[in-house]
Amino acid sequence: MSQSDSKSFWDTLPRPIIGLAPMDGYSDSAFRRVCKSVNPTIVTYTEFTSADGLHHGAEPLIKKLRFDPSEQPVIAQIFGKNTETFVTAAKICEDMGFTGIDINMGCPSKKVVKSEHGVALRRNPKLAFELINALATATSLPISIKTRLGWDDASDLIEFGLGAQNAGANMICVHARTYKEPYNVPAQWEPVYAMKEALSIPILGNGGIESMSDGISKLGNLDGFLIGQATFGNPWIFSDTGRPNQLKDRVGIMRQHATYLVESKGELVGCREIRKHLLCYTKGFDGAKAYRNRLCRVESLDEIYALLNEMEQLYTEINAS
Ligand SMILES: Cc1cc2nc3c(=O)[nH]c(=O)nc-3n(C[C@H](O)[C@H](O)[C@H](O)COP(=O)(O)O)c2cc1C
Repeated sequence: MSQSDSKSFWDTLPRPIIGLAPMDGYSDSAFRRVCKSVNPTIVTYTEFTSADGLHHGAEPLIKKLRFDPSEQPVIAQIFGKNTETFVTAAKICEDMGFTGIDINMGCPSKKVVKSEHGVALRRNPKLAFELINALATATSLPISIKTRLGWDDASDLIEFGLGAQNAGANMICVHARTYKEPYNVPAQWEPVYAMKEALSIPILGNGGIESMSDGISKLGNLDGFLIGQATFGNPWIFSDTGRPNQLKDRVGIMRQHATYLVESKGELVGCREIRKHLLCYTKGFDGAKAYRNRLCRVESLDEIYALLNEMEQLYTEINAS
């Protein structure tokens, strides 16, 4: 692909663009693979990854960034505030075969904000635009940013968006909440629609989407949307049919998810990390409590397979009776 072809990635994707939002502790390779198996057309993002860490050659971070080709297009999301480390990180991501690079300008965590990374860049637009510009010129990959409406309101969203666009951003995704708002308050999409009117690059919206039809109903003039928390235990959200009602029909994906996690992170870490997902998949089922107590303690893939087989059989019998 020529440089101009890869830079136009966001412009040429079929509309609406639909993606799995970057989520630390969730949107890892295994979950991305599972979501892609449900809908191969979605875009996926890595969890946010430290540009400084990548610059200093941190092997665990590089290992964490590895992906399976089936997850493509995968966007590597990086955070930091130093142009030099951003450029090295971008080169590493380019060499690893990512489709694009996204700069995190939305993370509200205390540690991140204190280090002047993430959403803190909204209070330092000069540096934010320098980072975008440095990446836009250093790599042939498209550069996007993911940010929020603003600090405590959306009054500077358009100005910030125009600055990012002028600095070389190829796409902006806006999480339609401010820094001050927690993840569970209703998202406000109007300022994002207004931003789209003022800019020429693609704009994605994100925040509070509960289903594909909900996403489509909120799309307005935007180019697409990312779904975050509603994907927990529900990769089927990306399908036309949605999540199966019967637990027995969810087991196949649960098995697959566990297999991918153990494959990518090893049995010890994989089993520890799959527990929270297994709980999400089984939430709200009559009689699942006893299983949930066991699912949150699993220690080997064999144990997971055995439990899932048992559940599959039990819930098939319950449905047949
Ligand atoms: C557990 C968790 C981890 C997150 N990690 C990231 C991250 O690494 N990078 C990022 O840009 N946003 C991150 N987010 C924000 C999501 O990408 C998304 O913007 C937010 O959850 C709103 O979308 P939703 O209402 O569909 O969940 C995270 C959110 C959650 C709940």
